[in-house]
Amino acid sequence: MATPVSSISITFSFLFSVFLVSLSLLCSAKYGGALGGGEASQAQSHHHTLHITSLSPSSVCSSSTKENSKKGSLKVVHKHGPCARHPDSFSPPTATQVLTRDQSRVNSIQYRLSFNPNRNTLRGSKVTLPAISGSSLGTGNYIVTIGLGSPKRSLSLVFDTGSDLTWTQCQPCAVSCYQQQDPTFDPSKSTTYKNVSCNTASCSQLTSATGNSPRCSGTTCVYGIQYGDSSFSVGFFGTDTLTLTPSDVFSNFFFGCGQNNQGLFSGFDGLLGLGRDPLSFVSQTASKYGKYFSYCLPTPSSSSGYLKFGKHGGSTGSLQFTPLLTSSQGATFYSLGVTAIKVAGNTLSISPSVFSTAGTIIDSGTVITRLPPAAYTALRTAFRQQMTRYPLTKAMSILDTCYDLSKYSTVTIPTIDFVFGGNVNVPIDSSGILYAGSSSQVCLAFAGNSDATSVGIFGNVQQQTLQVVYDVTGGKLGFGTRGCS
Ligand SMILES: *[C@@H]1O[C@H](CO)[C@@H](O)[C@H](O)[C@H]1NC(C)=O
Repeated sequence: MATPVSSISITFSFLFSVFLVSLSLLCSAKYGGALGGGEASQAQSHHHTLHITSLSPSSVCSSSTKENSKKGSLKVVHKHGPCARHPDSFSPPTATQVLTRDQSRVNSIQYRLSFNPNRNTLRGSKVTLPAISGSSLGTGNYIVTIGLGSPKRSLSLVFDTGSDLTWTQCQPCAVSCYQQQDPTFDPSKSTTYKNVSCNTASCSQLTSATGNSPRCSGTTCVYGIQYGDSSFSVGFFGTDTLTLTPSDVFSNFFFGCGQNNQGLFSGFDGLLGLGRDPLSFVSQTASKYGKYFSYCLPTPSSSSGYLKFGKHGGSTGSLQFTPLLTSSQGATFYSLGVTAIKVAGNTLSISPSVFSTAGTIIDSGTVITRLPPAAYTALRTAFRQQMTRYPLTKAMSILDTCYDLSKYSTVTIPTIDFVFGGNVNVPIDSSGILYAGSSSQVCLAFAGNSDATSVGIFGNVQQQTLQVVYDVTGGKLGFGTRGCS
């Protein structure tokens, strides 16, 4: 990967200064301003049989009957699926575009983690991201709706376990706002909004939360965060009341009020940072929720996903817990240990050191799970052996094991299980095994890293329909099946 570190530094300083200059102009001008469910039968216990029609994205949102039973939880929908609050006003990206942008996100995560043997000091430096095209925020994201300000305004935010700062675009959009679905948040219309001053500890914390030192505009703290060379948000650091549900209200919540925002963010209003840094949503709400949250990511055409904070009495009976590894993957990411992979019930022959060399993180924003090259090769070989009756076809972006299923009405695929530390066996839902461009190009939904030392990532396609529990204080991650139903 090319690493034009100094040019990024210049570019990003430039963004800050463009913002600060435009801000002073503004002041002097006194401007006012995958795959669906569709399992046909469980023919044999180690295979899934799927209807080919279930492989194409649906244009119909299938609503959940149990939505109201998840009290106090936020509804999660896929950003590009038919259940999004404003479906269809932006055309969804193609499967290939999603995969290309997914690789940009993975490149930036791996770059952030590749520097330092102890992997903790990197983010304090000024430059953390490579110059890569496209948004490293990725596109296969999930959104929740929260309320901000007094009176509260509804905002649709991507939730991201791979970043920390929560931000939304703000009026007067001093430099630039991209097109979003809801009215842009206007801090001047909120009676509870306050700017954060430069000389505060919270302002200093931006350095670790964003990878960039804060700046000042007058006495107001200015944040900047970039997700790749074409995606960033720069603006005032402020606090306001954040409302999740009527009984979950947080006053003085720290967030970025973006005045200069660009990238491939269309369709949502900002980001809810669920990483581990002190400024993340998870840390800021720790006194109420004890750094405990859980979600189920629905398939793109289902409305039954949720994001829930705190334990509040939910049964954890069917959950199995694996240790959350704290020290190895920086201040933001959630790391866990993969110990084995099974295909059709058979454990692949992969040396444990293949997984332990680079480690693995779980990320809500990465689409396709990334594996060390030796693990991916073993998975691909075993999968192909189970699929010999179907014709292979050309690769789709990062996915190299694709089949032409256009002449079939059903397909029978092997089960895939991941085994995490503590012998936690997680069966991957059938929606997380195949990724379809069309019925003539249906691919194994996993990819190999280009080298053995790059971190592995358990991505969101493979997390679909699982209940995933982050017990950060307890140092463990829980997994359960059929989490969305
Ligand atoms: C926040 O600070 C900026 C820059 O100093 C200023 O333009 C804006 O009016 C302030 N907002 C509030 C609500 O104080």
